[in-house]
Amino acid sequence: MIIAIDGPAASGKGTLARRLAEHFKLRHLDTGLTYRAVAAALLAKGLPLGDEQIAIEMARHLDLAKMDKSLLSSHEVGEAASRVAVLGGLRGELVRLQKEFAATPPGAVLDGRDIGTVVCPDATVKLFVTASPEARAKRRTDEILSKGQEAEYASVLSDLKRRDERDSQRTVAPMKQAADAHLLDTTEMDIETAFQAAVDIVEKARAA
Ligand code: C5P
Repeated sequence: MIIAIDGPAASGKGTLARRLAEHFKLRHLDTGLTYRAVAAALLAKGLPLGDEQIAIEMARHLDLAKMDKSLLSSHEVGEAASRVAVLGGLRGELVRLQKEFAATPPGAVLDGRDIGTVVCPDATVKLFVTASPEARAKRRTDEILSKGQEAEYASVLSDLKRRDERDSQRTVAPMKQAADAHLLDTTEMDIETAFQAAVDIVEKARAA
């Protein structure tokens, strides 16, 4: 079974993906980390974010098992990730790794922006998880504050909108809901309600 989950930043798709993987005993890949890992390696070496050949070289050395979410979760790395994510050649390299992960038994949950459209177009079930920009900005602000770091709602909101715009307007594999994806709008839901809704969608798809 392959569960494909797409959606914008801070929509809750990452938490849902992790919990669905636990529930259905599947492996989980947060594909955003692959773009973040490449971006973080470029930033650490002071290399340009727009050079496709260098980015591809970084991707070739990427080990999915060694990606450390806590080191890659910063706002700066997320922003840089969305800038390298426009490079078609880099995407080809990362999509190859993501497809390999998905094809390994017993199946997997992958979350990102192009899972239902490009990485796993034949997934058993596809979810497009979204929420209003304001709800997402509030969640992201609270999350940063809860770590004892500083965050200002207005700037988090404008950053999210800018990233959504870049991710949905790029020419290669833009973020978009696959035609056969189930839309899950979590604006008015807490995580438990969203999780139950997602489980229901997956159970129905599996039964069908
Ligand atoms: O989901 P996350 O915020 O970690 O993703 C960081 C960036 O990586 C996104 O803004 C997007 O530009 C890129 N990305 C992508 N395709 C994916 C996953 C992430 O383009 N499948």
